[in-house]
Amino acid sequence: MEILRHVVLLVHLVGFALLFGAWAVEAVNRRYAVTRLMNYGLLVAGVAGFALAAPWGIEYDLNYVKIGVKLVVLLAIGALLGIGSARQRRNGSVPPALFWSIGVLTLLNAGIAVLWR
Ligand code: HEM
Repeated sequence: MEILRHVVLLVHLVGFALLFGAWAVEAVNRRYAVTRLMNYGLLVAGVAGFALAAPWGIEYDLNYVKIGVKLVVLLAIGALLGIGSARQRRNGSVPPALFWSIGVLTLLNAGIAVLWR
């Protein structure tokens, strides 16, 4: 059970890597754009996150306040990706503030996961 949980955690981290990596590629190329890979990363991190939010394969209590905050941040990122792709279809790019918020919120969720004990 514990090994399976670690596999799901690995999948969760792959989702994070896809989302943040896809965002970082756009950032270094100075393109204010949202891409399909960001959506896939969010989906993978979200699905695996939900699986990890249930208390199986562990002997300690989960911090549900922390998990709730992560869920809210995930929904905010999802909303920004949705608004971003609609704007992009209309104008060809997304507003810089919206683009940067996606990266900052992604990093915030990883920070919450690692630093909030
Ligand atoms: C963009 C969204 C997200 C990012 C970047 C992210 C990032 C991370 C990272 C880096 C870890 C590893 C932390 C560690 O092992 O110390 C982690 C663990 C975890 N995440 Fe997320 N996460 C996201 C969304 C979510 C969501 C939506 C949920 C639940 C609804 C969630 C639930 C969890 C849980 C329960 C763990 C701990 C696993 C364990 O200790 O067994 N995550 N997350």
